[in-house]
Amino acid sequence: MVEVLFKDVPIRFEEKGAGPAVLLLHAFPLSSQMWSTQMASLKDAFHVVAVDFPGFGQSRPLGGRATMDLFAQAALAVLDALAVKRAAVLGLSMGGYVSFALHARAPDRVAALGLCDTRAGIDTEEGRKGREANAQAVEREGSGVLVERMMSALLSKGASPSTRAEVERLIRATPREGAAAALRAMAAREDFSNRLAGITCPTLVLVGADDTLTPPSEAQRMARDVPGSIYREIPRAGHLSHFEQPDAFNAAVREFLEQARLGH
Ligand code: MLT
Repeated sequence: MVEVLFKDVPIRFEEKGAGPAVLLLHAFPLSSQMWSTQMASLKDAFHVVAVDFPGFGQSRPLGGRATMDLFAQAALAVLDALAVKRAAVLGLSMGGYVSFALHARAPDRVAALGLCDTRAGIDTEEGRKGREANAQAVEREGSGVLVERMMSALLSKGASPSTRAEVERLIRATPREGAAAALRAMAAREDFSNRLAGITCPTLVLVGADDTLTPPSEAQRMARDVPGSIYREIPRAGHLSHFEQPDAFNAAVREFLEQARLGH
């Protein structure tokens, strides 16, 4: 793991391989470690970079401040440190929310966009209340409370025991300050649904067929709204589709990246 300073806070990231850059942005409440299979699969042809958002994995929190835009800026600081001008940005769920913020802030840095198990719209009022309740529970009891509260939404019934164990391990490893700040940041995030038509880079919209948190119906709508985008549904996968069906996920991503003809 390597680190850069962003607003005086250490941000950790992992990089592997050489070639066109691919930036991997993780889901909530996990870390860059969720991408280990994807890094191993892509590193023969791509320079793969996976960032821990502030307050996740080994990155320090930004003193209680968190927004999707600050997370995007932290990811851009990593690209700057690596002298990467443009990258394919692949975000899953919260990583997708951050991908939208990154694209809005710096569209010229985005060579291609992978929007996986995510949505462009914002939370309902009820959803925001649920986030605040979760944030308070995490502050009181630690991120472990999210295992019971979120597991059934993150994985499908068919997920293997080893996948469940790995997701649980990553959730429990998330520092409580980072998790609580990100829950509030997701609740306050910007709505990008009216800006999808303005995305001009090659775009992949990918979703697990059994994703109930950001379901295929929503992904299909998003794919319709992004001009020229490619839609891929991963069978027998829930929300964390990259964990449940890594081979199908990696093949879809690789096919997309190859077709996007990313330059260095
Ligand atoms: C995620 O997988 O990143 C989160 O569950 C997304 C969310 O809660 O909206």
